[in-house]
Amino acid sequence: MRTQVAIIGGGPSGLLLSQLLHKAGIETVVLERQTRDYVLGRIRAGVLETGFVNLMREAGVAERMDAEGFVHDGTLIAYDNEQFRIDFAKHTNNHVVVYGQTEVTRDLYNARDAMGGTVIHGVSDVELNDLTGKPYVTFTHDGQSKRLDCDFIAGCDGFHGPSRQAIPLDVRREYEKVYPFGWLGILSETPPVDDELIYANSERGFALCSMRNANLSRYYVQCSLSDSPDDWTDQAFWDELKRRIPEDAADKLITGPSIEKSIAPLRSFVTEPMRYGALFLCGDAAHIVPPTGAKGLNTAASDIHYLYTGLVQHYLHNDSNGLDTYSQKALSRIWKAERFSWWMTNLLHRFPDQSAFDIKMQRADLEFLRDNDAAQTVLAENYVGLPY
Ligand code: APR
Ligand code: PHB
Repeated sequence: MRTQVAIIGGGPSGLLLSQLLHKAGIETVVLERQTRDYVLGRIRAGVLETGFVNLMREAGVAERMDAEGFVHDGTLIAYDNEQFRIDFAKHTNNHVVVYGQTEVTRDLYNARDAMGGTVIHGVSDVELNDLTGKPYVTFTHDGQSKRLDCDFIAGCDGFHGPSRQAIPLDVRREYEKVYPFGWLGILSETPPVDDELIYANSERGFALCSMRNANLSRYYVQCSLSDSPDDWTDQAFWDELKRRIPEDAADKLITGPSIEKSIAPLRSFVTEPMRYGALFLCGDAAHIVPPTGAKGLNTAASDIHYLYTGLVQHYLHNDSNGLDTYSQKALSRIWKAERFSWWMTNLLHRFPDQSAFDIKMQRADLEFLRDNDAAQTVLAENYVGLPY
């Protein structure tokens, strides 16, 4: 088999890249380890920056998102029993769109089907070869060994995939911070407690009220890393959530049975460089943010933007500048999103080793944010997404 761009991983990064390149007349083959149902079973944040929304439009897959997504032009921040609003529209003239990542992925798969694009599911033993020469990918599919020759490889295979590992250790640098807590999240078929998201710092720990649609809500509470979802009955979850959010929200919260319950650890991670020879890393394969601020999918999108632009320049305009500067441009934006996610995480969580002084600092930071327009602008600009 031969293609122009071999894409490893059929998550949102790989699918979006494949769709954009297809529209530009550049051939791709996507290799995905899991089944489509498995990929669509993952539940992840659904807060989309305008940059991401525009890429979906450019890829021709925005119809349902534009019809069903919710425009949010602000968010609520709560601490103790106080609450204030960050007005994105006022501070940035911009907004975010709430539309589940599962739906984004579903729309991308449907578009691939409609265009007859190749996504090979159920591959194993994926190996990246001759990255600084004539690149090719080998893998096993249906019990047979296969080889895919290509010009370039996009490593869109998430944090645990083989692409990042294919960059030699003497070239690769990794930066990591692991946080000493997790998020216990539940999905429930209940109306959201508010039209906007509520990020709450309480003395019992962080909580977040989020949503997918008018009758599907997503809530989180900060939990211990030693907890297991089975330790938490639905009732225990709702009780704890209510203790951590402002009273008026707790009073109007509509609870119901959870349809999903899971714990995610929080980490910040970046690998450098994001290019090695013919290999370009994108999305979770290259970096992870803690979910505070919902930058996971959005950081993947900025990588896809830079890589897509670079590949179009290369194939259609015979200009390698975009590819040559990919790593530098992508990382420059990634580190800013890492900083924002780290800052939001520090602002809103209780840390096991936090001193009384640290808690006072956190509170001063929150009060400053509540009262200061410039501080709110900084948050708003980062939340709606820095320009590409
Ligand atoms: N071979 C083929 N595919 C693989 C392999 C492999 N060896 N290893 C992993 N994959 C696939 C995974 O099954 C997954 O479908 O790569 C895909 C990677 O998808 P994601 O983990 O969703 O990563 P990405 O597409 O970069 O999306 C980033 O996902 O984790 C969230 O917060 C993150 O929202 C962000 C988004
Ligand atoms: C979510 O809806 O799952 C969500 C929203 C905002 C975040 C993180 C997760 O910051």
